[in-house]
Amino acid sequence: MNNEEHFKNVISHSKEYGFIFPSSEIYDGLSAVYDYGTYGVELKNNIRTYWWKSMVQLHENIVGIDSAIFMHPTIWKASGHVDAFNDPLVDNKDSKKRYRADVLIEDYMAKQADKIEKEVEKAKKRFGEKFDETLYLATNPRITEIQNTINTVHTRFKKAMEENDLVDLRQIIVDCEIVCPISGTKNWTDVRQFNLMFSTSMGAMEESSNQLYLRPETAQGIFVNFLNVQKTTRMKIPFGIAQTGKAFRNEIVARQFIFRMREFEQMEMQFFVQPGTELQWYENWKKKRLEWHHSLGFPQSKYRYKDHTKLAHYANAACDIEFEFPFGFKELEGIHSRTDFDLKSHEKFSGKKLQYFDPELNSSYVPYVVETSVGLDRTVLAILSQSLTTETLEDGTTRDVMRIPHFLAPVKVAVLPLMKKDGLPEKGMELFNKLKLRTYCQYDEKDSIGKRYRRQDAIGTPYAITIDHQTLEDNTVTIRDRDTMKQERINMDEVEKIVMDKVDITEALKRL
Ligand code: GAP
Repeated sequence: MNNEEHFKNVISHSKEYGFIFPSSEIYDGLSAVYDYGTYGVELKNNIRTYWWKSMVQLHENIVGIDSAIFMHPTIWKASGHVDAFNDPLVDNKDSKKRYRADVLIEDYMAKQADKIEKEVEKAKKRFGEKFDETLYLATNPRITEIQNTINTVHTRFKKAMEENDLVDLRQIIVDCEIVCPISGTKNWTDVRQFNLMFSTSMGAMEESSNQLYLRPETAQGIFVNFLNVQKTTRMKIPFGIAQTGKAFRNEIVARQFIFRMREFEQMEMQFFVQPGTELQWYENWKKKRLEWHHSLGFPQSKYRYKDHTKLAHYANAACDIEFEFPFGFKELEGIHSRTDFDLKSHEKFSGKKLQYFDPELNSSYVPYVVETSVGLDRTVLAILSQSLTTETLEDGTTRDVMRIPHFLAPVKVAVLPLMKKDGLPEKGMELFNKLKLRTYCQYDEKDSIGKRYRRQDAIGTPYAITIDHQTLEDNTVTIRDRDTMKQERINMDEVEKIVMDKVDITEALKRL
């Protein structure tokens, strides 16, 4: 199965097994909005809890808040979002389709990089063991030509983005002969800026003075509460404030399933530091956050850093942690050194001081901020796309198995009486009633045992416990491992401990 087929499989599997549904589906859906189903919500909650515990519980100097989605509209003026939270848009005059100009160019460069990869694959096959990839990359004329094109476009693109040069952005699209995927033509309009915030109004009057924005990031709720939190928790700098919650963006290129949504959830942490120390903290958080992603247990080669081509209006250093989704390496988390931009700006717009008295320096200052911001939905997508595997078994049949990290799996253990008679269901319920107090457990007595195992594999349940006639004689059950499908006979009294040792989030936290 190639990447494209795998991605389609992830989307259809997510729907079929109750992870993710298109929003408002019976009304033909709502573009770039999705609902989480029974197993999706469990997975999402588990990821959120893992993030929260690893931030708040494991750091004595990080505390949490939950600020409102509606905020005073001036906040978005102060943060720069009203003036600068824009995407460069371009329309194709023939198809009337609208695109992000930067995405068209990035996709073009990614396609060129794919061409290089394909050439290398072909050469590997042709030359076999003698193949020297480094030499080939440096000397093959076709490859150097493609690489030169990428380098030239990249330099021009970086400059145009940094200087907000919309005319040159359009010219790059024209020069690269980028065509609209729908009409196939190069008939492009001018590039112009489009603000991504959703607006609404508060109260009964639809006057502009009542206009509010749905927050495009959760971070501002942390900034405006900085002093409230610092005073009530008596935190000393350096310290952090963590928050998870919904954010809204009127994304133009809404595609790739839950990768780019109009309503999504962020998990953000603002770390307040002494001015001048921010770049050290930035490096520190870059490292820590990559370790957090690695702790999920997927191959480390699936993650990489990418420095920003264009720094946001508030940052003096920024990078992404990218994950290799089925459609290529893309941003999973952003890490930004946001300077004192936000707090200073809120001081200016609100007229209130947002300063910290540092007892060690015996002076007051506006702290600098290092931010870590990861998309919860993108983390769900990374986990689903990495976990879903279709295996061919010895008997030639196939099974779909979700190899979700145990501590994040929606259902941790299933209790399955072999038959619906002879007292097996009662024995099963006895075990289920015990396990459900500790973790999310399912009891299932419908269909053949084989079908029930497959259902649990498909939603990623790490363990299945089968109650059979021997259980009634000697109180033993079988425990089946999702990944190996191996079954072992154990005493029923040991199930709770064996399962909890393997699925408990505490074990994952210890590894951090
Ligand atoms: N406060 C900083 C901030 O919002 P960002 O890089 O724009 O930075 C942070 O967003 C993270 O939020 C991204 O790395 C991504 O995981 C997630 N995210 C952003 N836009 C998204 C969207 N439209 N759909 C899903 N997730 C999104």
